[in-house]
Amino acid sequence: MSGAGFHIPYVAFFGRTYTECLDMFAMQPADLREGPTLDCPSGPDSFVAEACAAGFEVVGCDPMYAHEPAQMRLLGRQNVDACIASIEAQPNSLTFRDYAAFKQAKYDAIERFTADYERNRHRYVNASLPTLPFAGRAFHRVVAANFLFTYAHREFGGLYDGREFDLAFHLKSVAEIARVARHEIRLAPMGSFAPPPRPHPYRDPVTALLRELGFSTELVPSGLDSGLAGFNDVLVARRLA
Ligand SMILES: C[S@@+](CC[C@H](N)C(=O)[O-])C[C@H]1O[C@@H](n2cnc3c(N)ncnc32)[C@H](O)[C@@H]1O
Repeated sequence: MSGAGFHIPYVAFFGRTYTECLDMFAMQPADLREGPTLDCPSGPDSFVAEACAAGFEVVGCDPMYAHEPAQMRLLGRQNVDACIASIEAQPNSLTFRDYAAFKQAKYDAIERFTADYERNRHRYVNASLPTLPFAGRAFHRVVAANFLFTYAHREFGGLYDGREFDLAFHLKSVAEIARVARHEIRLAPMGSFAPPPRPHPYRDPVTALLRELGFSTELVPSGLDSGLAGFNDVLVARRLA
């Protein structure tokens, strides 16, 4: 990464495919056999759709799920087009090894997500952090990517121009994720989007909170090219008792 870093004025409705999500969270399909998984937020990623099609129990939540199915493909495609244009207008701020594959996967995710959202609406829950409408320990695992950390203000490691997702918001949100996670939490990516390459400034306070809440924590390398030059880790937290 170089220059001023990639930035964006809104939270994008932009998502990854199942394969990308597994790679991003450093998971294997077999991990999903362990119990129900929450993807928080899942946006227009196709993790829920493709995991459920493979026989796993995965639920997604996102505030955009207030919208009707007919709006979703349009909104999804508009957001992907706008994000791709924004990435192309800020050359060298994100450094994907295979940009064509990155782009195509975002359109694939939208198509798979919208088809499933129309047919299986019950898998998609309208919810906003920092409050989730699920019972305590309802999910074996909660995975969370590309909202927390990513949409911190760019002075604080994110790529966002707004300031509402500050450290206090992150700590409240992660405590809420911990409340609904029975066994494991995976958070990604853990690098700063704002240059220079470094760990995200919220990584250590969030890690400390998870330890206080009774989780062990470790950093494992993500298998997905996030476009960041370094610090592309997943924070894995496991409940100790
Ligand atoms: C870039 S998408 C991430 C999708 C997916 N996790 C991925 O990595 O491909 C970010 C999502 O955050 C959602 N979002 C915005 N405000 C939120 C909030 N307060 N709580 C949870 N999700 C929120 C947006 O609607 C959007 O779909």
